[in-house]
This record gives sequence, C-alpha cells and structure tokens, in this order.
Amino acid sequence: MNDQLAALRDEFPGFRIWRETIGDRMRYIARGAGLGISPHTVVTDELGELRAALSGDAAQQAAAKPFETQAPNIARVYNYWLGGKDHHAADREAADSVLADFPEVARVARANREFVTRAVRHVAGQGIVQFIDVGAGLPAAPAVHEAAQQIALDARVAYVDNDPLVLAHARALLAGGPGVTVVNGDMRAPEAILGSRGLRGLIDLDQPVCVLLASVLHFLPADQADATVAALRNRMSPGSYLIISAGTSTGTDPRLIRCLQSAYAHTAPVTGRTADEIAAWFEGFSLARPGLVDVWTWRPSGPQRVPRPEMTRARFLAGVGRKVLVGPGWLP
Ligand SMILES: C[S@@+](CC[C@H](N)C(=O)[O-])C[C@H]1O[C@@H](n2cnc3c(N)ncnc32)[C@H](O)[C@@H]1O
Repeated sequence: MNDQLAALRDEFPGFRIWRETIGDRMRYIARGAGLGISPHTVVTDELGELRAALSGDAAQQAAAKPFETQAPNIARVYNYWLGGKDHHAADREAADSVLADFPEVARVARANREFVTRAVRHVAGQGIVQFIDVGAGLPAAPAVHEAAQQIALDARVAYVDNDPLVLAHARALLAGGPGVTVVNGDMRAPEAILGSRGLRGLIDLDQPVCVLLASVLHFLPADQADATVAALRNRMSPGSYLIISAGTSTGTDPRLIRCLQSAYAHTAPVTGRTADEIAAWFEGFSLARPGLVDVWTWRPSGPQRVPRPEMTRARFLAGVGRKVLVGPGWLP
C-alpha cells in the first residue's frame, strides 16, 4: 500500500497525498499544492479512485491554462472531421491544417466511426452485453449503447474518457439512459478505470466484456499503449472481446504522421505503430474475420468501396478479437 501511495505521489507531484485513519475507516486525501493551481482537495476510500480523480483534475488544470485552451482538443478535432458541431477555432485550424495536405483524413475518421458501430453490433450479436468504451469521444450517432442495444436490449456501456469536456457532454446526453454510465478515467491508468466504483456498479468483470479502444491508442507513446492494452487484456475474462482501431505507420505517408504530430504538438503525442505492433495488441485473442484490416474493409455493410488511390496514404487498421484461454477445457 505504501508503494502505491509513493507511486501516486511520483505520478502527481502537484499534490500532497496522504492517508488518514478515523476510527475504523481509512481514507486517502490529495490536496493541490502547485503554484497557480487553485487549492482543492480530493478524499476517497480507494487509491484507484483517487488516481482517477487526480487524472481528471490534472486535465482540468491543463485545460484551464490560457495557452492550452488555445490548443486543439482531440475529441473536438475528431468531431469536426466527422461533420459535427462541437468545435472551436483552434480545433478547426488544426483539423484544416491536416486536411489541406491530406483531405482523406476526414473520410478515415468517418470510416472509423462506422467501423465502431459495425463492430459493436457484431459483438452484441455474439451475446456480449457489457461494453467499456475507452476514449469514448464526444457523443456520435449512433452512440455505442444505441448500437449495442439495437442487438441486445439489455446491453450496458461504461463510457470512459479523460477529457472533462467529453465527460460533461456524455453525462448530459448519455448517462440518463438505461444501462449507461460515464467514467472519468485515463487509459494510462487502466487499473484505476477497471477499479472505479462507477464502472464496477455497471460492469461485472468476472463475466465477458467488450473493451473498445477505437482511435485512441495512437495518442500514447508506444510503451504506454502496449502497457495499457496488456493490462486491460489480462483483466478481461475468457470470451471477452477487444475492438481496436488505430492509425498505422505501415504504408502511411510519413508526412501525414509528421503533420498530425505538429497539429497536436501542444495536446498529445501521436505515435504511428506498425501493423505488426498493432496485431500484437490482440495477443491471446482470436481475430474475427476478416482479421486486422483497413478500417473501411472490416465487414462493410454495403458493397465494399474501393478506396481512392490517395486513401492508401492514410492507413488506419481495425480489428475485433475474442479472448481465448489456452489450456484444457478451452478451445480458441
Ligand atoms: C479520436 S477520439 C475517438 C472517439 C471514439 N473512440 C471513436 O472511435 O469514435 C479519441 C478520444 O480519446 C480520448 N483520449 C485521449 N487520450 C486519452 C487518455 N489518455 N485517456 C482516456 N481518453 C483519452 C480523447 O479525449 C477523445 O475523446
């Protein structure tokens, strides 16, 4: 426990963090101590919850910095590419700077969102009723719970994001619905997400679950993305599903990756992973047909569109895997 407390102190140097025992109750307290950060206090029973709360606070403080409010926001840039209405000037500027040289990126974003819907319907059709959407983004139609509930009426969805703006929208638009919760969580702390009270109130991790990591892992450095996926994979029970989509460096014009890195320079790292590295995220999972493929070719609902030649400059891979347990009694 002391090690975890020490790790939290390292992770959040802007906070004084300590443990208190009152009667038979133990609690954890974090108090903001950084210059220019308005003092505030978080009190929780669990270290996982404390980490989740501090991640949110850190994001809010970052968003409150004058310079960073000018920075493009991942969810709003994506919303702009999808043709939505939730974006500001800084988002449009960054989004347009990418489209100027790579106009196909908006089509890739839309293809990704369509893949999410098809993949969720497919997984719900396999009898899965629990979904954890990590890096959920601003609400898009159909939302994941709508797509899942079209197939399985009792489907439940935990939407997870670390962006206060996304959380506010999600709480306003989604959390009123049945079988839906919104969790403030950072995918760099997967244990905190899975341990959070909000998620555990809706999702039973001893039963199969579907974890979505759609268009989000490329916003982490390679080692963090690998660690996040491994931690989530390990905690999922056999029969669980993983839905992943991500930009890949394999076959993508390297200028596009540089262009995205420059657009998000003050927001998040952008990491292009090779197709083999993305395939490795499905370790221990068997891939549903057609495997890990270009996003618009994953079980397209209409006749498969042949991408225009320039679409091949912006490769985006997608796959759906089912967890298999190797050993007696379990068959892939
Ligand atoms: C491009 S959007 C993808 C939305 C949705 N998953 C989809 O595919 O349509 C990426 C989302 O990931 C979220 N995100 C980025 N980094 C994150 C992190 N470290 N933890 C949790 N969410 C994160 C962003 O806030 C944004 O809402």
